[in-house]
This record gives sequence, structure tokens and C-alpha cells, in this order.
Amino acid sequence: MSATPLLELRGIDKSFGPVQVLRDVAFAAYPGEVTALVGDNGAGKSTLVKCISGIHPTDAGEFHFDGRPVSINSPRDAAALGIEVVYQDLALCDNLDIVQNMFLGREKRSGIVLDEPTMEQMAAETLAGLSVRTVKSLRQHVSSLSGGQRQTVAIAKAVLWNSKLVILDEPTAALGVAQTAQVLELVRRLADNGLAVVLISHNMNDVFAVSDRIAALYLGQMVAQVKTSDITHSQVVELITAGRSGNLGLADTGSNGTGAAPADTTPGAVR
Ligand SMILES: Nc1ncnc2c1ncn2[C@@H]1O[C@H](COP(=O)(O)OP(=O)(O)OP(=O)(O)O)[C@@H](O)[C@H]1O
Ligand SMILES: [Mg+2]
Repeated sequence: MSATPLLELRGIDKSFGPVQVLRDVAFAAYPGEVTALVGDNGAGKSTLVKCISGIHPTDAGEFHFDGRPVSINSPRDAAALGIEVVYQDLALCDNLDIVQNMFLGREKRSGIVLDEPTMEQMAAETLAGLSVRTVKSLRQHVSSLSGGQRQTVAIAKAVLWNSKLVILDEPTAALGVAQTAQVLELVRRLADNGLAVVLISHNMNDVFAVSDRIAALYLGQMVAQVKTSDITHSQVVELITAGRSGNLGLADTGSNGTGAAPADTTPGAVR
């Protein structure tokens, strides 16, 4: 495991109007590792991802990438750093084939015509590099694929661009057991290929099956980021539902917890 994060955020604040959604958030993602980002509905997971991918500007905080301070003000900035996001709705076009989807908006050209052979070869190599063998033809419309195959194409699309950090927002939410296993294997393989992977999931089995670290958001605060091997299922559930578990997470104020300061949001507490 690498000790230096590829992406590190500190002190991230984000409000929508009067509503503060992220509060002094610290977060790190490491090359070669899967970091699971967990939290209840509305905790701020997708908002954090949209800050990382340049869709939402942050109100405060620092971004470091590859050890350098960076600013990410647009999806273009994020893509230039090698950050790709696979959103839950996948954003694939049903009426296009696999190659067309993978290159949508970033088509290769040869003169004024599309360079179909190159795109097809790159798509094939990317899928082969991820050991994807379930797709029969690259020229089949995405509408004819299963949910798991669609997710595979969306992930392959994200790694096509020499990406270094791939963020997956609930990639298995709509999948059955066998397809979930396939997608989790693929998620693991991305990390084994050296990428930093961030996986948002509500499914604790998935989280424990595939992650190296777990980051827990509770009401917009990052209450813990720990190695998966150092935490139990039930501790993670407590962090998600109560913001603390034993000595992890929000400090115990002895009251109902309002106004509690997070105990573990400093970078030093990222274990
Ligand atoms: N564009 C927006 N404008 C105003 N409020 C927003 C916006 N986006 C998100 N929010 C609010 O921010 C909070 C966090 O939402 P977010 O989507 O980040 O949660 P989440 O952790 O991804 O939840 P889920 O698990 O349900 O996907 C919610 O209270 C939501 O209503
Ligand atoms: Mg979300």
C-alpha cells in the first residue's frame, strides 16, 4: 500500500444558499487502493464528488494532487489531472454502440473523418486490459447490454483516458448478485492496475469485499477515514448513523451531540 495520497483534500466547505452541506472535510485517495466513501442519504457524498470533479465550486479548502496544490474549477480541469467520474445514471447513450459511447465527445479523427479503426482498437485494448470478456461485439448498441455490462462500459470509458483517479457513485446499486460480483472484481482490478479508486456505496458487503480504506461522512462532516482492516461492519454502521463509534468519529460531548466537533478530520487522523 502506498502512503502518499494521489488526491488529498483539506478543509473543504460547501454550502448551497443557507444550507451548509460540507463542513471542514478532509479526504484522501491513494494509488493502488479502493477508498469507500460511505454515509447516509444526504450526508454529502455526491456533493463531495462533484467538488472533486469540478462541477461544484468549493467555498473553502485545499486540493492536493500528486503532492502538488491544484485548483479544480471545471470538469475540464479534473479531466486534465486524470480524474474521471462514473455517475450513477451512467450517462450512456442507448442508441449508440460501445465504441461510440466510449469516445462520445472526445472522438478520434483522421483528417475530417472519424478514425473508427483507432477508436475500435483502443476500446478493445481497454476492455481487454480490464479482462472484460463478457461483451460480444464492440459494435453492439448499449441498449442491448445487461446492467452489469453497461456499468462495465461506463467504467472502461472512464479509464480510457489515462485516468489516475476513478470515482464510482453507487456502481452496483441496480445490479443483481452475479453482476455486482463482476463489477466489484473490475473495481478491484482498477486499483490493482495502480489507479486510485473511490467507491461510493450503501452496501456494507460491497464495501468490505473491495475497499482498502473507508471514509465516513456524517451530516457533511468527515467523521473518520480508516483502513478497512481496522474497523468492523457494525462500527461503520455506527459512524454512518450516529457519526461516532467508540473513539472514532465525533467527540462524545455527553449531550445529544449537537455542536460536537469531529475528532478525526485532521489529515493526521487519516489512518
Ligand atoms: N444542487 C443542490 N442545491 C441545493 N442543495 C443540494 C444540492 N445538491 C445537494 N444538495 C443537498 O446537499 C445534501 C447532500 O446531498 P448529496 O447528494 O451530496 O448526498 P449523498 O450523500 O450523495 O446522498 P445519497 O446517498 O442519497 O445519494 C442534501 O441535503 C441535498 O439536499
Ligand atoms: Mg448521492
